[in-house]
Amino acid sequence: MKKTTISFLLLLFTFIGFSQGNKVTQTGGKFDGLAMTPPMGWNSWNTFETNIDEKLIKETADIMVTSGMEAAGYNYIVLDDGWMAKERDKNGNLVADPVKFPSGIKALIDYVHSKGLKFGLYNCAGTSTCAGYPGTRGYEYQDARFYASLEIDFLKYDWCNTAGINASEAYATMSNALKTAGKPIVFSLCEWGDNKPWDWGKPIGNLWRISGDIYPCFDCEFHHEEGNWSSWGFMKIIEMRKDIRKFSGPDHWNDFDMLEVGDGMTNTEDKAHFTMWSMMASPLIAGNDFRKMSKETLAILTNKELIAVNQDKLGIQGFKYSAADGMEVWVKPLSDGNWAITFVNRSDVTKKVNFDWKKQLIKDTDFNLEANFNTTSYKIKNLWKNKEVGNTKKAFIANLASHDVITLKLIKI
Ligand code: GLA
Repeated sequence: MKKTTISFLLLLFTFIGFSQGNKVTQTGGKFDGLAMTPPMGWNSWNTFETNIDEKLIKETADIMVTSGMEAAGYNYIVLDDGWMAKERDKNGNLVADPVKFPSGIKALIDYVHSKGLKFGLYNCAGTSTCAGYPGTRGYEYQDARFYASLEIDFLKYDWCNTAGINASEAYATMSNALKTAGKPIVFSLCEWGDNKPWDWGKPIGNLWRISGDIYPCFDCEFHHEEGNWSSWGFMKIIEMRKDIRKFSGPDHWNDFDMLEVGDGMTNTEDKAHFTMWSMMASPLIAGNDFRKMSKETLAILTNKELIAVNQDKLGIQGFKYSAADGMEVWVKPLSDGNWAITFVNRSDVTKKVNFDWKKQLIKDTDFNLEANFNTTSYKIKNLWKNKEVGNTKKAFIANLASHDVITLKLIKI
């Protein structure tokens, strides 16, 4: 590049920096390495929507620790939409709702941090949030400085009220603003997949939503008449985005949305939901009311074996290996040459699994991996039963109830 062109570009970048009221000293781009495995935590939206307050959040943080959730790996407490007052203050700063958070948001963040947990907030790239609170458009650098001063660890950045703006630019602006403000913050893009964030999100964010909102059902589409949009059952979301797996990986995750475990489905369906999120290496952000959590829900959310599949350091999203007669087989390559394999019964009746390994050849063409059971044998561990169940020299046979799953870990012998 010619010297004059370089000087022009330097001038231009300096101008952009100063025009936002900041001296830009960083080159931009996200904070690297903050999410080398899929983030795990809790978010307020799925159960509470905007009905949140400091008592609820403190209790949730307490239970995260005392219930064993934290020990299982959950560490982010994220306040979703509805944490702000309806207006910015006279200087344009965001203000937490003083009625919901009478002790102030900083005191709450300090409380959550004192428990050894991390704290996240929500806002939107548009002029206002989806629930009508002040959006960040035009305030990116100011809001980023506010978040840095609060010492938050995670920002979920939504996509309502963004008419006329370009998604990759809007998210890049906020990413640069966070970087410039200097406090490492996981940047969670919540753009719903409309503008294919998997194509441009990697240098900008640590995770990105790939669909509209989840709904607590196995396979339904819930249509919201008002606003003409749909929420999706968990298998619908999986199906919708099973083909973008090569874009997901350590520090840049496809986010299949927050969990609905404990939010009204049967325990069997919750188990299938949690399994599929683990198989897809999706972030595991619980969305249930911890204060009313049943022991079955807690057991699902803290299943060590499934969490290990989700958190496997290779960070590869699983894929659908086969589907026939309502029965699907999903596989996920794991580190050390191991694999996870899940049988999902999508039908309404019990089915028989009869999987003769010798007749199967699992090929992952995206990541160039293969499981050939004629040349390599694997020990089999049934992860939900936490039990070894033979090896791949003999066919695996079992009954599988409607909407239930069997997940096996194949360990190279
Ligand atoms: C959007 C997001 C949800 C939630 C709500 C809040 O719908 O996709 O996850 O954050 O907004 O209003």
